[in-house]
Amino acid sequence: MTDTNGDQQILRYRSRQRIVHAVMASSFLILLITGLALVWGPLAFLAAGGWSRYLHRIAAVGFMSVPFLYLILDRSGAKEVLGESFKYDRDDVSWFRYMYRYALGRTAEMPPQGRLNAGQKLHHSAVIVFSAVIVISGLVLWFLKADLSPTMLAWTAIIHDLAMLVLTLLLVGHVFFTYVYTAWSSMATGYVSKDDMEMEHSKWVEELEHEGAEGPSA
Ligand code: HEM
Repeated sequence: MTDTNGDQQILRYRSRQRIVHAVMASSFLILLITGLALVWGPLAFLAAGGWSRYLHRIAAVGFMSVPFLYLILDRSGAKEVLGESFKYDRDDVSWFRYMYRYALGRTAEMPPQGRLNAGQKLHHSAVIVFSAVIVISGLVLWFLKADLSPTMLAWTAIIHDLAMLVLTLLLVGHVFFTYVYTAWSSMATGYVSKDDMEMEHSKWVEELEHEGAEGPSA
């Protein structure tokens, strides 16, 4: 497929994968804002009337549904991101050594990368691990609060808040790289420029060409 400028486009994310990402991103942002309203003085006015507690719980259900939704809507996509995010090769290790170049937008000098670059692998695996910590500690705070000692309750809340802080810092990096590499189209339309992918994910493009495909089928 080509765009209006005649540039070749390849499919990076199917529509069902983009729906899962939208549920994950929107529920996370609601959790962050309603969570901050509960713990941070300047935003406490948002918690007035207690509505933010209800919204926090509704968004928590949305966030917890993400892995199940992914498995129901796009099992192969879910398996792919889970498998690839925890697997690093030699190129990935040397990619980390030159990561500062990537942060400056100098992709041409980076070691060749597969469908996910090493930074994306680290981001996605950290999202999976810290989301699990947030979900488990959140469920404890929701359902077992009355059974916990004050010390246990304080520790659970600290773990919950620290894991949320880690995901928030990761989100800042995630949005920064989305902006620097104008990657938003991959989640907005699903398609990305083949030229860009040859620079940033050359091993993935080679794989697709080897398979005779132009990306995953829609
Ligand atoms: C709200 C602003 C956000 C923007 C602009 C954004 C942007 C993007 C983009 C452009 C991609 C595709 C990157 C690529 O491979 O080319 C992506 C993927 C991804 N994002 Fe986000 N994202 C946002 C929020 C989040 C949040 C809050 C999380 C996690 C809590 C998250 C987790 C992920 C994950 C795990 C993937 C890989 C998806 C998959 O393989 O199915 N994103 N994001």
